[in-house]
Amino acid sequence: MRYLTFALAKGRLAEQTMELFESAGYPCEQMKEKSRKLIFVNEDLKLKFFLAKASDVPTYVEYGAADIGVVGKDTILEERRNLYEVLNLGFGSCRMAVAGPIDSKEKLNKSCNLRVATKYPNIASDYFYHKKKQTVEIIKLNGSVELAPIVGLSEVIVDIVETGSTLKENGLVVLEEICPISARMVVNRVSMKMQYERITKLIEAVKEKLG
Ligand code: PRP
Repeated sequence: MRYLTFALAKGRLAEQTMELFESAGYPCEQMKEKSRKLIFVNEDLKLKFFLAKASDVPTYVEYGAADIGVVGKDTILEERRNLYEVLNLGFGSCRMAVAGPIDSKEKLNKSCNLRVATKYPNIASDYFYHKKKQTVEIIKLNGSVELAPIVGLSEVIVDIVETGSTLKENGLVVLEEICPISARMVVNRVSMKMQYERITKLIEAVKEKLG
């Protein structure tokens, strides 16, 4: 039997995923030891797990370097990879929103030279160009996006809101909701066909634990 390979977004998401997988009968003892290792196996069940940067998880799965991935819906929407999204795991839940100073609300509905700063240029363009049919300038940033409207780089941002405290502490508010976000399981298209029974069994076992 060959290894079934999993790409997990490193950090809290991977930890929650392994708790869930263990309860569903897919544990990995090696992963519990504190180390800087990136690849872990369960020899008995022929499972291989690796930790990747979240935005790279869809890439590993699309190319088949991993059969299965666990990553946030935000990353799936942004990366636009060719994958099967098979399961909503529920955790890591937050929302994608347009945010800014309260007085940007008016500009948001009429301004034609609105600047939008974001780590998610594809999600922002889908939302403004396709859904709202509004022309805006999208400015790609790599983090601490809340800075942009404060220092005058943009009028608004498109970003993840979890507790809302980052916005609040920086005098910003949610202006428009884009979509809910949570962790998803994704599967490589060829693996889904070639390992159908094994993968379906895993999905069912995990589903049962989700209730
Ligand atoms: C994320 C997001 C917000 C914050 C939202 O940032 O981009 O800044 O968390 O969480 P809250 O609503 O609970 O305050 P992250 O910590 O990933 O850092 P980054 O923006 O620098 O990438």
